[in-house]
Amino acid sequence: MIYLDNNATTQVAPEVVAAMLPFWAEAYGNPSSPHKFGHRVRQAVEMAREQTAALLGAGAEQIHFTSGGTESINTALHFATQSQPDRKHLVTTAVEHPATLKYCAYLQQRGHQISIIPVDREGRLDLDQLTASLRPDTAVVSLLHANNETGVLFPVEAVGEICAKRGILMHLDAVQTVGKLPSPVASWPVDLVSLSAHKFHGPKGIGALYVCKPGRFSPFVHGGGQEKGRRGGTENVTGIVGLGRAAALAVSREPEVERRIRQLRDDLERAVLSDIPDSWRNGGSEPRLPNTANLGFAGLEAEALVLWLDREEICVSTGSACTSGSLAPSHVLTAMGQTPQQAQGAIRISLGLHTTRAEVEFVCEKLALAVGELRRLVP
Ligand SMILES: Cc1ncc(COP(=O)(O)O)c(C=O)c1O
Repeated sequence: MIYLDNNATTQVAPEVVAAMLPFWAEAYGNPSSPHKFGHRVRQAVEMAREQTAALLGAGAEQIHFTSGGTESINTALHFATQSQPDRKHLVTTAVEHPATLKYCAYLQQRGHQISIIPVDREGRLDLDQLTASLRPDTAVVSLLHANNETGVLFPVEAVGEICAKRGILMHLDAVQTVGKLPSPVASWPVDLVSLSAHKFHGPKGIGALYVCKPGRFSPFVHGGGQEKGRRGGTENVTGIVGLGRAAALAVSREPEVERRIRQLRDDLERAVLSDIPDSWRNGGSEPRLPNTANLGFAGLEAEALVLWLDREEICVSTGSACTSGSLAPSHVLTAMGQTPQQAQGAIRISLGLHTTRAEVEFVCEKLALAVGELRRLVP
């Protein structure tokens, strides 16, 4: 199998699996228990918190474990709105992950107003339009760091400064960047940052929310006093340990993503665009993630292309894993001005640490064959 769907999820690193194993079968204590058996587990949880904090250049007390990116994002938006009941306005963009867009829609049904900032044909944000949308009652600006479908990066620091000047909270969905790109979030002017372990070789169902000023934070999930009362529920210890180990590994692996994977991705794009007529790249201008290629092909359904490649044991996707299979055109590509037909002809290829040059060359060959064959079938 050739796995080129690393923005959907990544292989759990063997080192991460090894770190997690003892916490299922042997060290199964509850970290909140008063005995030594529980204590050992508490120490592992706190070490993972430090490892996660180190990846962000943050303090351990700023890290709150959650069940993943979705819960972190919901928690951030919940906190921003609940803690400022007089501020009923939120700002986000048209290309956010459904975890943001659907929580905003939920808030809208409950009386909040949402400004959705559009993007241009390259997927870039219009900072002037974002600035103009801000109001005295804006509670939070919630922004992707990197788009999961195209890899386009938003200008975090510029938006953070705009928000900070006006006393508006800023939440960053860094699920696709933490562990792939250096993310010294604690030095950025942001208040809340969401991340998810399974995007950087950690386990699924575990993530974290960085909170710049944790003293002011209040919970989304109410329960026992876990996470200093900021997130109820007995900790997912194995997941937390896995997240910590993955974070520690990511620190040393980020330069490889930046260098080797970027070169492979660029070569893949160049080969596809030169070998396959009527093909194009979506969101190709810098800055963008080094591992992501979003490629469109005129006159075909990407869904058919993905199935054709799957028959050859090649895993790629249409849009995001959450929306692929829905047959609706990608909201990201339509927001970038594409017609539904153009958007439905696009696939996402996301490389990972394990991707080799031979795999990329094989996929380019198969892709040209597949597009030719499918176009002959449906002229
Ligand atoms: C940009 C982005 N935000 C949020 C999420 C949701 O994260 P999780 O799968 O951990 O809930 C994803 C996952 O695909 C994502 O790509």
